[in-house]
Formats: sequence, C-alpha cells, structure tokens
Amino acid sequence: MKSTEIKPNVHWVGAIDWNIRDFHGYSTYKGTTYNSFLVKDEKIALFDTVKKPFLSDLVHGIRQVVDPIKIDYLIVNHVEMDHSGAIPEIIELIKPEKVICSEMGKKALLEHFHREDWPFEVVKSGQTLSLGSKTVHFLETRMLHWPDSMFSYIAEDRLLISSDAFGQHWATSERFDDEVDQPELFAHAAKYYANILLLYSPLVQKLLGSVQKMGLDIDMIAPDHGLIWRSNPSKIIQAYDTWSQQQTTRKAVIVYDTMWQSTELMAKAIGAGLADAGVSVKLYNLKVNHRSDVMAQILDARAVIFGSSTLNNGMLPTVADMLCYVKGLRPVGRIGAAFGSYGWSGEAVKLITQALEEMKFEVLDPGIRVKFAPTHEDLKRCGELGHKIGHAVMEQG
Ligand code: FEO
Repeated sequence: MKSTEIKPNVHWVGAIDWNIRDFHGYSTYKGTTYNSFLVKDEKIALFDTVKKPFLSDLVHGIRQVVDPIKIDYLIVNHVEMDHSGAIPEIIELIKPEKVICSEMGKKALLEHFHREDWPFEVVKSGQTLSLGSKTVHFLETRMLHWPDSMFSYIAEDRLLISSDAFGQHWATSERFDDEVDQPELFAHAAKYYANILLLYSPLVQKLLGSVQKMGLDIDMIAPDHGLIWRSNPSKIIQAYDTWSQQQTTRKAVIVYDTMWQSTELMAKAIGAGLADAGVSVKLYNLKVNHRSDVMAQILDARAVIFGSSTLNNGMLPTVADMLCYVKGLRPVGRIGAAFGSYGWSGEAVKLITQALEEMKFEVLDPGIRVKFAPTHEDLKRCGELGHKIGHAVMEQG
C-alpha cells in the first residue's frame, strides 16, 4: 500500500493484513492493519514496525519516503509481535543510532530477541526526544496493552501515536476515520475495546485522567491498528471514557448452546420476558456466533444470561469457553442468571451460576433447569425469569 502523509513530514508506512481471521482468539473477519509511522525531521524516527511476514510492505512504505539507512531512531511503543516481529530485520537494515523504548520495553525486547548489542535507550513518562523542529513526548501506558506499552506525542503536530489504544481490527484502503462508515468504525472500535482492553478499564480511566491533567492538545490519534482518528479524536476518547467506566444500557445478552433445542426454547422464552419488561435483548447461540462477537455485545449489556444443556455432568464446551473468556475480560456490575435442559444429572445450571458468582455478577435467581423438553409451564417460568431480570435492568435507569 502507498505510504500516506498524515501530518507534515509524518508518514504512515504500515501494512494491511486483509487475510487474518483470528487474532489470538478474537475473530478478525475484516482483517487488520499494522500501522507504523515515519517522522522526517533533522533526525528521522520510525515508530513501531509490523508483524514479521509484512516486513517487505514496511520496507516498501519506508522507501517511498526515505532511504531506510537514513533513519536515526527506532521507537518501540509496544513489543507484542504484531508490532515488533520485523524489528530484527529493520535494525539490520536501518542500523539505528538508538532503539528507544520503556524500561519494560527493553526487558521484553531482550526476552523476545536476545540482542544485548542493540543500541537501547530507555525513556520514562515525561521524557522528550528532539527530532529538530518536532519534539516527541513519551508517556508510559503500562498494561495498555502490555507492561511495556507507551504513547508518543508530537506536540508540534498535536499528534498522539497511541500504540494499541484506540485501535480497531479492520483492513481498509482508507487511512482516516472520516473516510469510512461511522457506525461500522465504532462497532470495530467497541469490539476491540471489549476483547482487548476491557479488563484494563481502571487503568484506562487513570490514563484518561493523566492525559487531561497534562493538558495534551490532541487533534489526531494514530493507533497501531486500523483507522487514524483525525475528524474528531475526542469522539473516541469519549467512547473510551464510557467503556472504561463500564457504563451499561437497558440491554440483555442471552448466550447459550443447545443439544436438542430445549435450551434454545428456554432462551427464547427468557428473551421474550426481558423484551416484555422493556429491555433490548440479543440471543447468541455459540454454535453460530464467535465468542469475541458476543463479548462485543456484552460491553454495554446490563444483564448476561447463560444457558447450557448438561453434557457429561458439566456444561457444553462452547459455554465453558465463553465463561472462561468473559471471566478474563472482567466485566463489572452485571446481572446474571443461568438456565438449561438436562436428561438425568443436570449440573450445568449450578456450575454456570457458580462461575457467575465468582465473576461477581449479581445473580438474581438460582436459575431454571428443565428435564429433557420444556413444557408450556416450564416456558412460562422462563418468561417470568426474563421479567424478573428485565425489571432489575430497568430499575437501574
Ligand atoms: Fe497490537 Fe498488543 O498488540
């Protein structure tokens, strides 16, 4: 892809991965990008690299702007391999005067590449690097996404190079937010937040507070994945504020798997009860929905209700997978309940309820178990459970 000048003498030189469909458990149906930025000043700096198989794309992008050997500094904002995979070859090619990273970044780079001979320079929050007419300000953003992560802010351009934060997994030929469909853009950004950053929400809140306190004047945010926010960066900052406060809406997600459709019938009856109480309901059968798409919907759902048939004295594996995934991402302040059909032992509902309690969900009901196929009366009970949870959802405003 052609390099793109995003600010005067600041160029996107990254790679577009049209084909990736799984990003460690996250479904990337529309691919992703690995954004890398090249700043040309008296000194020339490259911010992050790309995933290793995309080295040639990066080199091609750089060569459109400058002879790679002229690059003075490699700035490593994040060591995860989707941004650092090409580092060894890039260092061979550009022979940088300095490889600039956080203290944790140096540690992680050594643990990945074992190259003590690279010219590391460790920076901390508040330190700056002059490139000539432009100055880079560093801000460590530990755990967003890894302990090594940091932001680079170029004051003269009011440009925040934000590493993983504010990203989206979406491969596009467009580079800027205002060139694409807005609802789709925000859906990708929300899915990214729900699946990658939700568990770090308290740190996101802290970071947003620091950014505000530092009075950073930002008119463009350039993340390492997806579109660059130039039209109104405060919109995505506001969205991160909402998501990291874990604000929820009058919405319920029913997530389930079913053996012979009995649990599915129960899901529908519970959904009808919730809808009757005024709640917006979404049903996800895990046979046909990916865990990361369900997680994207859980982001603003006030109630999450899990259903599973009992299999081999436990729950169905898809439901166990989903619970494990949700637990790791730590949604807080949610209402939960369990339901499911069984043949003779019927442990699934109890096991799900235990998992919900461990995740500190507000469990309003011991859950509903139905032997084999639900009767009309059983489905009425499911509807009543939906009503009960629906009223609790509505009471919260
Ligand atoms: Fe895009 Fe944490 O790497």
